[in-house]
Amino acid sequence: MTSIIDQIDLNKLPKHIAIIMDGNGRWAAEKGQERLYGHYHGVESVRNIVEGCSDLGVGYLTLYAFSTENWDRPEPEVNGLMALLAETVRKEVPILNKNNIKLHIIGDMNMLPPFAVKALEESIDMTSHNTGLNLVMALSYSSRWELTDAVKRIGHDVENGKIKADDINQDTLQQYLSTSDFPDPELMIRTSGEYRISNFLLYQLAYAELYFTNTRWPDFRKENLYEAIIDFQNRQRRFGKTGKQIEEEETSNTLIS
Ligand code: IPE
Ligand code: IPE
Ligand code: MG
Repeated sequence: MTSIIDQIDLNKLPKHIAIIMDGNGRWAAEKGQERLYGHYHGVESVRNIVEGCSDLGVGYLTLYAFSTENWDRPEPEVNGLMALLAETVRKEVPILNKNNIKLHIIGDMNMLPPFAVKALEESIDMTSHNTGLNLVMALSYSSRWELTDAVKRIGHDVENGKIKADDINQDTLQQYLSTSDFPDPELMIRTSGEYRISNFLLYQLAYAELYFTNTRWPDFRKENLYEAIIDFQNRQRRFGKTGKQIEEEETSNTLIS
């Protein structure tokens, strides 16, 4: 019997997978538990999916862990999430190093409590030499924050003569985003049955394939990831061209290689 992983074409992996890890609170409520119980179990899914991406050879994995808007949640939940986050990034460093995984953070670090910033900075530093999977945690992140911040910094650089307004193009904007070091996501997964983007990578997801699943994040495992990747690999990505053009390009690429 072939397992689901054997159906994945390793030559056509999405270079960058982005995930909106949603549904922890409802998962906990369905079990008669507090929301934080769901967040604790969500960490097991993170571990499993990071390992899954690393083993497959995916280049970049971005996980939406806490949005700018999530600061408006009840204080005990926010505090619990910050403590869990700091504890988790610290604890995971040996595993990240063992698997050659490099940690990155995107988001408004000024909003995070100092103990969380410290834990994050130390973990980033301790994994900075790794060359395998790039694990990008989106924390206190929102796309509108990111775009506003980018425009502000571009404005400053125009003011101080570093760049000319007329020279601003898409590459310029890309360089001012917090994702400037990463390629755009090719596959975006959202768990828990919600069909929205919730202020996540609005610019970068322009041509991402979107995949939605009803599975709550704490139940999401490698097999679910493999299903999403197989679904991605069965789609035709057209980037504005016609299907026929894409087929012709694929045929000529096969002939060349
Ligand atoms: C996602 O799960 C985790 C965070 C946003 C921090 P939720 O906490 O949003 O869970 P639901 O959507 O309320 O079930
Ligand atoms: C998006 O989930 C943010 C994260 C998963 C971190 P939310 O649960 O906050 O999104 P909405 O409020 O349902 O859109
Ligand atoms: Mg949610």
